Amino acid sequence: MGFVLPAASPLLTSCLFLLLLALVSAEAGLGRGFGDHIHWRTLEDGKQEAAASGLPIMLVIHKTWCGACKALKPKFAESKEISELSHNFVMVNLEDEEEPKEDAYSPDGGYIPRILFLDANGKVHPEITNSKGNPSYKYFYNTAEQVIDGMKEAQENLTGDIFRKQTDEL
Ligand SMILES: *[C@@H]1O[C@H](CO)[C@@H](O)[C@H](O)[C@H]1NC(C)=O
Repeated sequence: MGFVLPAASPLLTSCLFLLLLALVSAEAGLGRGFGDHIHWRTLEDGKQEAAASGLPIMLVIHKTWCGACKALKPKFAESKEISELSHNFVMVNLEDEEEPKEDAYSPDGGYIPRILFLDANGKVHPEITNSKGNPSYKYFYNTAEQVIDGMKEAQENLTGDIFRKQTDEL
């Protein structure tokens, strides 16, 4: 096949470079403002990882245009404690159209941002709520402290052995 690259065309070179840059930053940008230092996964990969590891899933549902999401992002990303707790979870954030359509993912409404915790089997646990938040929007979090409390509760109640033991006892 005679595919000839125009030798050292500056335009082509810079186009290729920009394309490469876009691919790399799309890959690195899974944090979407919630912290690129956290190991984020897609929901599908996250469910597989949770099943394999016994870790619960922390799921953040948000939109690019949402003011409350923009306000939460830096608080979340800059919290050392959230970052540490995140090692005990399979972390997933879903933006815009990635939001799952099933009712289980909007237990008390479709507002954003909302944070849900799933057990290692991928089941949403609506009993893990923001206990210091608004009782009408139980999965809405607007401070790092609220997020930390939710993570601790989920970690205690949904992590592998503990969760499996509770299930066995039923
Ligand atoms: C978590 O587990 C504890 C102990 O079993 C229980 O008291 C508490 O209500 C549970 N929390 C939630 C949110 O279900």
